[in-house]
Amino acid sequence: MENKKKIVLGADHAGYLLKNFIAEQLKKEGYEVTDVGTNSPDSCDYPVYAEKTCSAVLDGTGELAVLVCGTGIGMSIAANKINGVRAACCSDIFSAKFTRAHNDSNVLCIGARVLGEGLAWELVKVFIETEFEGGKHARRVAMLTDIENKQK
Ligand code: RB5
Repeated sequence: MENKKKIVLGADHAGYLLKNFIAEQLKKEGYEVTDVGTNSPDSCDYPVYAEKTCSAVLDGTGELAVLVCGTGIGMSIAANKINGVRAACCSDIFSAKFTRAHNDSNVLCIGARVLGEGLAWELVKVFIETEFEGGKHARRVAMLTDIENKQK
């Protein structure tokens, strides 16, 4: 049986409807989904959900995550503050593919006020279906970890 990755989802109030749509699509495709919220249109703070989501990746609850806010940018800034997270805010297929292949990104950030459901779902699919290429890219990713370690 195909071994599908476990996916963590998080969003703020601007992103929760798109996050719910992505959750439904992933479940239909047989992915195991952990949804850390938010689950209402009530205003909330994106750093809270970025941190919850990334923690679930770092503790192994999921292998990859998708974060949704209005632009995807606030989520990506918050996520990239966390050691071990390589978050990429993407709105095109090429970037979503190559941030997995070359950067070993573990978090995709998207903007619900930027993208329609169709493109958002295509971005999520290519992100989770693309594998890290390793090789020279592994050396560069290790250099990112070195930068994190120097900040400690
Ligand atoms: C919320 O209004 C909005 O600022 C937030 O969703 C996000 O776009 C921040 O980067």
